[in-house]
Amino acid sequence: MDLTYAPFTPFMIGPTKTLPGISPMEMADWLHRDEAYAEQMAYRDKLVKTHRDVVFAETPEVAGPAGELLNLVKTTLAETPDHEVTKDTMTRPDGVAVPLVGDHPLALLARMTQEDFCILWRPEDSDEHSLIGAILCFPSRWLLSEKFGRPMIGIHEPVPNYDDGIAKRVQRLFDALRPDQPLVRANWLVHTSPELHQPLTEEAKAKWEKAPSDKFWLRTERQSLMRLPHSGAVVFTIKTCLTPIEALTRDQQTGLIDALRGTGEDMQVYHGGLSHHHAAIEALRAL
Ligand code: HEM
Repeated sequence: MDLTYAPFTPFMIGPTKTLPGISPMEMADWLHRDEAYAEQMAYRDKLVKTHRDVVFAETPEVAGPAGELLNLVKTTLAETPDHEVTKDTMTRPDGVAVPLVGDHPLALLARMTQEDFCILWRPEDSDEHSLIGAILCFPSRWLLSEKFGRPMIGIHEPVPNYDDGIAKRVQRLFDALRPDQPLVRANWLVHTSPELHQPLTEEAKAKWEKAPSDKFWLRTERQSLMRLPHSGAVVFTIKTCLTPIEALTRDQQTGLIDALRGTGEDMQVYHGGLSHHHAAIEALRAL
């Protein structure tokens, strides 16, 4: 499911280089399809069937927002080339007809786009938004059941550079989010495996140091944030791309080396240990 190019290199673009790295986004640019579509969609079909308990989580409160989200995705895809949408079915660009009824809206959404979807809600008595439902086929080393129900600070607890200042800025962004002004940001990581589905508990991740490898992939997550107009819930999408580092342009390889070198030691440890960090830089330099 590798791409032969890297569509996003957030570590090279000014506004996305530093946290929270948010920019405005046009609604027309919300959902993306790339060359890995057919393979990723086949994998999503399989995961939702065989690992439903890992990739799907719901609370009773998410039913309304999830239904609203399903309608919005349906409407968006009906206007997107190569998708055929009827009342009960959508035929995807890979020719697979997926049902639009008969299951939880989030489970149906799993098979409609390459994006994963998380829904967040701020209860009246809380200072923060919490995760109240999700379809998450491609987690990058986190476990949905562990993060489920937690507020944003709790979700990001293991992330060294997600400090109180960032958390406050993110919460202000969430509170000010308007349905007509969605936002976009991106994460980037260097992985030693092209596996898209990597659920991992916080405990396992904290203990784990990546075995040195000579194969590396740039893993990017294009993430969007928007407020649903009717329910007011916040939707967070994650679109994952994997590109072998050999397929990056020379500029991107140099940019990635610079970005890795600029990463603090706590983030190096968080990303899989110092030996992994140095091995990735060496592999990029050797290209
Ligand atoms: C403006 C909004 C956000 C910012 C600035 C942000 C920032 C970050 C950063 C910097 C990381 C570490 C990535 C890495 O280098 O590996 C991260 C990880 C993560 N983010 Fe976010 N994030 C945001 C929104 C969200 C939302 C809405 C969710 C909801 C599900 C979320 C869930 C996670 C999870 C589960 C991780 C992995 C944490 C772990 O290692 O246990 N993020 N985020």
